[in-house]
Amino acid sequence: MSEVLPLDSRIPIHIAGLDERLGGGIPRGHIVLVAGPPGSLKSTFAYRILYHEAKERGVSGLYLSMEQSRSSLISQMASLGMDPDRVKGVHIIDVRALRKEIEDLREQPRWLLGLRRQLGRYKEETGFDLLAIDSLDALYALTPMENPRNEVFHFFEELRELNTTTFLVSEMARDSVRMAHHGVEEFLADTIVHLRLRELDIGMSTSVRRYIGVVKMRGVDHDMDYFPLLVEAGNFEIVAE
Ligand SMILES: Nc1ncnc2c1ncn2[C@@H]1O[C@H](COP(=O)(O)OP(=O)(O)OP(=O)(O)O)[C@@H](O)[C@H]1O
Ligand SMILES: [Mg+2]
Repeated sequence: MSEVLPLDSRIPIHIAGLDERLGGGIPRGHIVLVAGPPGSLKSTFAYRILYHEAKERGVSGLYLSMEQSRSSLISQMASLGMDPDRVKGVHIIDVRALRKEIEDLREQPRWLLGLRRQLGRYKEETGFDLLAIDSLDALYALTPMENPRNEVFHFFEELRELNTTTFLVSEMARDSVRMAHHGVEEFLADTIVHLRLRELDIGMSTSVRRYIGVVKMRGVDHDMDYFPLLVEAGNFEIVAE
């Protein structure tokens, strides 16, 4: 059985320098939007939290990979030193497996409803405390919505009923200021983590630097700054004054 986290606990994001600035991490139960352009480490950010929480605290996590296959995600994370076979408690389900389960429930094409039921079943089976959906955009692509604002609102409500801390990966265009597809997600989320890539001209060449900013965190007095994010051999740290 996985560890049951106290209600008022924090989920560390396992980035050296940043957890301290957030008072220990993300408040348990938050819905966290993880937004950024392609290659900004959104998947790695979300997976790392599930991996480290399973490894170091025995917390059970469910990672729904809506686009990348399970085997591709596993080999990517293993190359970053996070082989899921080495820890118990990180459950990775990809869209092929999920589609099969949802078709068995005969809920297609009402994906959001099918997904909600399936998440309830996974919760009973694994007791997961952390959930990652990667990505929200890939999920939307499977889900025809007549009234997205209303349906996204209900989906968030249903996620809250799972009583987990949830990471929703959101794909941003490189030059966009919009953190999620329908706009409403930014208001519904409790926390928004923005992973940014910025081009810097250095002499004759242009280099791209990574930045991380916590632009919203309900109930926490936090920095609004964007910090340079350094990634080395699977270790993440911010550069701060
Ligand atoms: N071993 C490694 N060490 C450090 N960085 C790596 C390593 N392997 C890949 N990367 C970086 O990670 C990036 C991919 O990370 P990730 O898949 O988490 O990004 P993403 O934001 O989810 O991308 P996408 O939008 O395509 O889903 C690569 O573009 C590369 O810059
Ligand atoms: Mg990704």
